[in-house]
Amino acid sequence: MCGIVGYLGNRPALPVLLEGLKRLEYRGYDSAGVAIRTATGFQVCREVGKVAALEAKLGRDVAQYAGSEGIAHTRWATHGVPAERNAHPQCDDHSGIAVVHNGIIENYQTLKKALEQKGHVFTSETDTEVLAMLIGELYEDDLETAVQAALREVTGAYAIVVMCESEPGVLVAARKGSPLMVGLGHEEFIIASDPSAIVAHTQQAFALEDFTVCRLSKEGYRTSNLHNVPVTPKVMQLEMDLEQIELGDFPHFMLKEIFEQPEALRNTLRGRIDTDRGEVILGGLELVGRDLVRAHRVVLTGQGTAWHAALVIEYMLEELARIPCEVQYASEFRYRNPIVEDETVIVAISQSGETADTLAALEEAKMRGATTLGIVNAVGSSIARLTDAGVYLRVGPEIGVASTKAFIGQVAVGALMSIYAGRRRNLSIEASRRLLTELNGIPDLIAKVVAQSASIHDLVAKYVSQENWLFLGRGYNYPVALEGALKLKEISYIHAEGMPAAEMKHGPIALIHDGMPCVFVAPLGSQHDKVIGNIQEVRARGGRVIVVASEGDEEIVPHADEIIRVPACSEIFSPLVTTVALQLVAYHAAVLRGHDVDKPRNLAKSVTVE
Ligand code: G6P
Repeated sequence: MCGIVGYLGNRPALPVLLEGLKRLEYRGYDSAGVAIRTATGFQVCREVGKVAALEAKLGRDVAQYAGSEGIAHTRWATHGVPAERNAHPQCDDHSGIAVVHNGIIENYQTLKKALEQKGHVFTSETDTEVLAMLIGELYEDDLETAVQAALREVTGAYAIVVMCESEPGVLVAARKGSPLMVGLGHEEFIIASDPSAIVAHTQQAFALEDFTVCRLSKEGYRTSNLHNVPVTPKVMQLEMDLEQIELGDFPHFMLKEIFEQPEALRNTLRGRIDTDRGEVILGGLELVGRDLVRAHRVVLTGQGTAWHAALVIEYMLEELARIPCEVQYASEFRYRNPIVEDETVIVAISQSGETADTLAALEEAKMRGATTLGIVNAVGSSIARLTDAGVYLRVGPEIGVASTKAFIGQVAVGALMSIYAGRRRNLSIEASRRLLTELNGIPDLIAKVVAQSASIHDLVAKYVSQENWLFLGRGYNYPVALEGALKLKEISYIHAEGMPAAEMKHGPIALIHDGMPCVFVAPLGSQHDKVIGNIQEVRARGGRVIVVASEGDEEIVPHADEIIRVPACSEIFSPLVTTVALQLVAYHAAVLRGHDVDKPRNLAKSVTVE
């Protein structure tokens, strides 16, 4: 979703800002812009489309943008269509204030009406212009004071960086509900909504807390709340390094991240498994582990791919720990007056840790007294901070918009949590040892799937012109079918549906026509015979059957038109292996169709609006 970069230092700001915007491109956006303070005042340039389009526009008169202070933005449209007038930075009508903003100002219409009555004239449909105008209206002689005053009138979510024409050498940043970090370089500051735009310059940074305003100048920085009471930020070392966020030899981040999965999973598991004792070590659960073990009910929540991981974890927790579980979309949980009893534990699953729906569900659950746990990738993110405790994925930054290694990490952490709780309830030490030994070996199995990328490419090439696909699975592989369909539609724009294989005959079977690709996720397991029955139902109607099958499963051969082989493993861990095959199916379909895999249309990596 929208991205922010700000720079204040001694170097030319424009290259730093543009490079930062490029690092944020993966988040998804539809227009971009930049404002630089120059000797003759603010120079603003905005353009619809990619950062490259903005660069092309700037290229004509780049000399006009000389200055070492500026703000830049990538916008993912919410209020108003993608258009130059709606792109950021937005200015007030005296051009004295320039603002870049992520999030949504919920009361912008009321504020806008009041400002219009005072004679202000708006040129965009954005809530951000209202904020710029409000800051301008309240400005007397100090930008920080004006920003604090304006934000006291605002409801909603924001991460902002503001410049003021009459205060050279000063940037003011603020945050509520949308991430923003300040990187502390050598005599320079780089502000960004995502650490990936900072790490090329410095590893030292701090994240702004909600309702915090930060004034940056050549003399240093100071942070305060909206009532000017000083707040001390926690400066940290960013763990991310450049190699993790650069492509290397891969054509796309998505492929890089698919290939990284064996190593990513090893990192997730490292130090957390004691096979001798049949024990799982989860430092993050130390304080509230008891609540999980004693829970009467666990509600797993998230959105998108994280929601699919929740479905897998639901089965794991119920099977291994015998705790009643349910999975709810965070967006639904929040507004349905959910039942939260004393022994209810809420587990929020999120790669970014910033998804607005998931955050809101968590706030609701917390308010109702639930114990809240997080399964999160981004260290120090909002969800990680809001939950009572949690377990990090440790899969490294995920840049590809289509989530891959985060899913594997989420399911693996879910498996660890299930064994952890299971051991303390009814799982024998022997069973636990066996499971943990097998889990330790899963990264090697994933490596074998990844190695088949070329043959999966050739298989997909035969079907890539088909516009409708079905993905079917049972048990642990039902969520995998949903995830396979989601991956395909996200990046190849092929219409795909995923469902439990048995559900197909209750309606969707009407869709099946000659040649329609139907992907069955059918590794060896308890429901294998039943899946073969479902395969026959499809074949009888002319569907083309592509099966993700276990190595050594000969029974499947006469039933399949195509087979993708994956190493055999226990049913409970099979999603960690089968999903990887479907990630490659989606990846190759998108590339074969000529789409930009890492920047799919309309999608955002981290959705920070409800
Ligand atoms: C967006 C992304 C999805 C992701 C979902 C949840 O929709 O495009 O890939 O699964 O958000 O994101 P989270 O960061 O909470 O896991």
